[in-house]
Amino acid sequence: MSLPATTARTRVWDGFVRVFHWSLVLSVMLATATGFLLESRILLIHISAGLAAAALILARIVWGFSGTTHARFADFVHGPKAIVEHLKGGNRHLGHNPLGALMVLALMTLVLALAATGLVVLGGVDKTGPFAPLVSYAQASGVLGLHEVLAFGVLALIGLHLVGVVFESHRSNENLTLSMVTGHKDSRPGDHASRPHAARPLLAVVAIGTLGALAWGVTASQAARPVPGLPVAALDGTYKSACSECHIAYNPSILPATAWQGIMAGLKDHFGENATISAAEVETITAWLTVNAAETADTKVAHRLAARITEEPFAITDSRYWKRLHQEIPDAVFTSRAVGARSNCAACHGDAEQGRFSPFAIDLPEESLK
Ligand code: HEC
Ligand code: HEC
Repeated sequence: MSLPATTARTRVWDGFVRVFHWSLVLSVMLATATGFLLESRILLIHISAGLAAAALILARIVWGFSGTTHARFADFVHGPKAIVEHLKGGNRHLGHNPLGALMVLALMTLVLALAATGLVVLGGVDKTGPFAPLVSYAQASGVLGLHEVLAFGVLALIGLHLVGVVFESHRSNENLTLSMVTGHKDSRPGDHASRPHAARPLLAVVAIGTLGALAWGVTASQAARPVPGLPVAALDGTYKSACSECHIAYNPSILPATAWQGIMAGLKDHFGENATISAAEVETITAWLTVNAAETADTKVAHRLAARITEEPFAITDSRYWKRLHQEIPDAVFTSRAVGARSNCAACHGDAEQGRFSPFAIDLPEESLK
């Protein structure tokens, strides 16, 4: 490998660009891995990694207007003419070449779109986050499809990006990956000229701080708004005293109205127990359960679990969906003293009584794992 006569080590990527690049690699890898595993307990890692990726990109956008020469969009975002010239083998670009620039923009757009759709899903399905007051379960389920398509789109782009890096490294006889680590490249005669820019870190810090404050403000103001479709939170007194003797008083949103009516009509033989109460109590409780049944809630449990429980004996824990959700939990955990039975939802779900069953409120009792 012989280098052209007049080369000079030139700093191309400033510290911010390099830290940004490798942090984005890490956060996207983490978000992808945890996203495909689809487990409730690692959802928080998935969301944190995804939001970190989005925050990094927002900061990078700011840096695209305030960073050093080759960090700036003006240095690498060109029209179609430059792309054609580059494809024809035109002069070398020290910073991103015009095709690489398209990749940068596409990746940034898709990762931001992933974060946005992820927040919409979190709002509608888990009733959490800035979109919780705005999005229904049904809408969020649709957006989940889009979120998944975007995820495959990002994977495809990453693949293309790697091919592009290998190809360009070969063609221009330099190690582009290494230059994203060291920040340096050899400038050569004939390279495209760039208008030099010094970094404006103060401007960047102020802009990033403003964006952060804005995001925090929107999230906080949304958090203060009521979330429609939440299950009834306060349990009726008669219901609670009559139906919490042998197990927790279930939130009415975990079964459809017909199931509750069936259960209330058969209390004499209630899962092998006699749970008879006075006729007046049956009437009060049945009426209350009916008006607060799954049909009135917009949660995951109401849509995915309750809606499918239509036949005797109306046991949540017998449903296929419930079994699939809990298939990885060993029997010994359910029969442990701390849990006792599958139907004791509250032993592991801190928000079971409120009917929320949020993936963030799951905690296996420690003694059950011994
Ligand atoms: C005398 C004890 C007793 C009383 C009182 C009682 N239950 Fe139950 N209930 C049980 C038993 C036992 C089961 C089966 C638990 C299991 O499957 O682990 C059960 C199961 C259930 C289930 C299904 C849970 C599952 O596993 O999916 C529902 C719903 C339910 N009861 C509702 C009620 C309602 C409503 C009342 C009040 C009218 C009530 N229970 C009062 C003993 C009782
Ligand atoms: C022994 C502990 C335990 C008990 C008892 C239990 N669960 Fe769970 N549940 C879990 C765990 C752990 C997960 C997370 C599974 C995973 O990683 O995806 C879970 C997940 C769920 C989810 C999905 C949450 C989400 O959005 O991802 C629902 C809904 C749910 N459980 C409902 C119930 C109901 C209803 C009951 C009672 C009838 C119940 N669970 C009893 C441990 C338990």
